[in-house]
Amino acid sequence: NNDVLSKHFEILKDELATVVLIWTWPFGRQFDLRSCSSLYNITGCRLTSDRSQYPKAHGVMFHHREICHNLPSLLTIPRSPLQKWVWMNMESPANSPRLPGPASLFNLTANYRRDSDVWVPYGRVVEASNDDKAFKIPNKDKLVCWIVNNWNDSFWRVKYFNQLSNHIKVDTFGGHFGRYLSYRDYFKTMSSCKFYLSFENSIHKDYITEKLFNPMISGTVPVVLGPPRANYEEFIPADSFIHVNDFKTPQELAEHLTYLDQNQEMYEQYFTWRKHFVARRSDFGVEHACRICDHIKQHKGYRVFKHLNTWYWG
Ligand SMILES: *[C@@H]1O[C@H](CO)[C@@H](O)[C@H](O)[C@H]1NC(C)=O
Ligand SMILES: *[C@@H]1O[C@H](CO)[C@@H](O)[C@H](O)[C@H]1NC(C)=O
Ligand SMILES: *[C@@H]1O[C@H](CO)[C@@H](O)[C@H](O)[C@H]1NC(C)=O
Repeated sequence: NNDVLSKHFEILKDELATVVLIWTWPFGRQFDLRSCSSLYNITGCRLTSDRSQYPKAHGVMFHHREICHNLPSLLTIPRSPLQKWVWMNMESPANSPRLPGPASLFNLTANYRRDSDVWVPYGRVVEASNDDKAFKIPNKDKLVCWIVNNWNDSFWRVKYFNQLSNHIKVDTFGGHFGRYLSYRDYFKTMSSCKFYLSFENSIHKDYITEKLFNPMISGTVPVVLGPPRANYEEFIPADSFIHVNDFKTPQELAEHLTYLDQNQEMYEQYFTWRKHFVARRSDFGVEHACRICDHIKQHKGYRVFKHLNTWYWG
C-alpha cells in the first residue's frame, strides 16, 4: 500500500533529518519552519520551536536579543557533547548589549560578518535571470532621498546629512520627519529618487544592511556611509554605488550629484552591473535557521567558538 509506504518513508526521513531548535523567535517574529527546501534548496533539515525537542536537537539557535539579559539561566541547562549551540545576531556591536558569558559557551556563530561560521549577509548580488535582465531604470521625480526613523545627533550619518543638506535638496521621509511610509510606499518612494542615502547607523566591518540593498533592488543609486569602499567592493560591484569617502567634503559630494543629475549618460553608468547581476535581500530568521542546519549537517566535527565577547565587541 503506497500510503503506508510513504508514511514509513516520512518517518524515516524525519529520523535521519538534522534537527535545529529555534530557542526563541528572533524579536518574537515567527516564520514557516518548513521552508528550507522551497526557499534555499536545503533538504534533510527539520526546524522546530518546540523545546521538548531539545534533547534530540543537533543544533540550537540562540538569538542574541532574547538571551543577552538572561544568560545565567542558559548556563544551568544540561548539554550533550554532540549538540552545537549557535549564537545568532544581525545587529551591529554598537546596537547589541555585550554578552559577558563564559569564553566557550557557543560552538558556532551566525552573523553578517564574513568570518562567521554561518554567514548571512543582509543581501547579496547574484547572477541575473533573463527576467531580471529586462530591467529599466524607474521614472525619477526626486534627486536625493533619505528615509530615517532612528535619529541621534551623535550619529555620524546625522552630522553628515546636516552638512550635505546645506548644499543639495534632500527629500526626507520616515518617523523622524513625521512622514512615516508604509512598506509599499517605502519601495515606491525609493525608486522615484535618483539617489538614496544608504547611511548606516554605526560603522563596522561588513555591516552593510538593507539600507544598501533596498535601493539597489528599487533601481536607485545608493550613496553609502559605512565601512570603507574596499569593504563594500567585496560584496557589490565598484560602479554600482557612490561612497561619501570618495569626496573630501559633503559639498563636493553634493556638486557631484548635481552634475550627475544633468548628465543622464553618466548617471546610467551606475546601472551597468544590472546587465549581469541583480540584488536580493536575505530573509531574517528563517534563512539563518536553514543555513545553520545545512552547516551542521555538513560539518560533523567538534567545534567551539572561543571568546565571542572580544571577537564581536573588541
Ligand atoms: C538542489 O540541490 C540538489 C543537490 O543537493 C541539486 O542537484 C539541484 O540541482 C538543486 N536544485 C536547484 C533548483 O538549485
Ligand atoms: C544618542 O547616542 C548617545 C551615544 O551613543 C546615547 O548616549 C544617547 O542615549 C542617544 N540618544 C537617543 C535619543 O537615542
Ligand atoms: C560545543 O561546545 C561545548 C562547550 O564548549 C562542548 O562541550 C561540546 O562538545 C561542543 N559540541 C560540539 C559538537 O562540538
